[in-house]
Amino acid sequence: MKIQNLATITTLLSSVLGFSHLANFPEHRSLAGLSPGEVRAVTRQFNSMPGPQHLPPPINDTSSKLVNDAAHPFMPDQPGDIRGPCPGLNTLASHGYINRTGVTTPGEIITAVQEGFNMGWQFASFLAYSVFVADGNHLTNLMTIGANTTINGQSTAGMNIHGNFEGDASLTRGDAFFGDNFNFNEKSFDAFSVAANKVGGGVVNLDAAVLNRAIRINDSIARNPEFSFGTPRFLGGMAETAYFLAMFVNNQTADNAKPLTLKDARSFFEFHRFPDGFYRRHGPFGFPLVDSFTRQIIAMVGRQPGNNNGVNNYVVDTKDPATFCYLYQKQVNLTATLYPNPTPELKTAIKQNLVTYYDALGDLTCQEYFPYGR
Ligand code: HEM
Repeated sequence: MKIQNLATITTLLSSVLGFSHLANFPEHRSLAGLSPGEVRAVTRQFNSMPGPQHLPPPINDTSSKLVNDAAHPFMPDQPGDIRGPCPGLNTLASHGYINRTGVTTPGEIITAVQEGFNMGWQFASFLAYSVFVADGNHLTNLMTIGANTTINGQSTAGMNIHGNFEGDASLTRGDAFFGDNFNFNEKSFDAFSVAANKVGGGVVNLDAAVLNRAIRINDSIARNPEFSFGTPRFLGGMAETAYFLAMFVNNQTADNAKPLTLKDARSFFEFHRFPDGFYRRHGPFGFPLVDSFTRQIIAMVGRQPGNNNGVNNYVVDTKDPATFCYLYQKQVNLTATLYPNPTPELKTAIKQNLVTYYDALGDLTCQEYFPYGR
């Protein structure tokens, strides 16, 4: 049978079976929430389904180097380009380390964060799969760094989706409770200047970063009755302060010791742009450094995981151990909840991606979980 005839028949069949609402389903969109029939209908439209992939190799040279170079010029977003809540990934996309459209793969993200920022391979793999297993498409191996589909300004899927990994008390984005949880928010960014001027001598050093972290948490506690700050968000929220302290500083002298200026902070958080002449840090920022730095920030901020029970009523969750093993466990559970009844093909792909996710934990000795059997 000719391909065109097959395509026509597939389209006709889909509308007869009541799947016309799934016409033009993007290949990068997560399949969570679809019935087995719907999954079969949308996969018939996909051009390519490579399925789960191996982790890419670590980069060889982890020295400091110019990354805002001629091969990676900044380019403004084009209509349709996707950006999201992560200033690191947004910047990499705007400089072409990640596909400039914002549609990418976990493998491309893992390589890009090493190349552009010297995030450690193991940790990058862990982080990319923490998001991919919940927000990515297990059959096409695609994901986005932001929204997949936006309805009335709210993301319906993708990295922006609230609660999968994105969460409250972000440094420069609002809480989902107030509406927009992924675009730059000037009022939130103000906390950087307040903290830098109060305790950082005008720059975002460690003390200013800790105060900034605390201000944003206190703001959510005071205003968001549904403020939710358990793992993964608690750990992610604390680690993100470590990320910018360790990876947004220009390391031309390779000492990793400079504090972040407010100008450079804005360049990353608002404009998704490397400052001119930006050198990535010297040496990888990965496990166990991320863990120890995050613990230091948690201790200095003095908060534990918990949730608001109405405004100004933060209740600590004493059962939340706030460890990376627990974060892995939560994301596996979430994935199983998102895909309660996968088609056999989808189930095989999810199982494989969960194995890759576990492997990404590397030296951390965590218990492995098999929600779909071994
Ligand atoms: C595997 C790679 C990465 C993934 C999957 C990822 C994902 C995310 C996500 C989902 C958020 C939103 C969390 C929230 O605020 O609710 C976020 C925030 C953030 N990310 Fe990334 N990220 C990655 C790498 C990086 C890198 C390499 C950097 C820095 C060089 C970075 C810096 C940050 C910062 C500073 C925030 C906080 C933004 C804010 O609160 O306004 N990330 N990331």
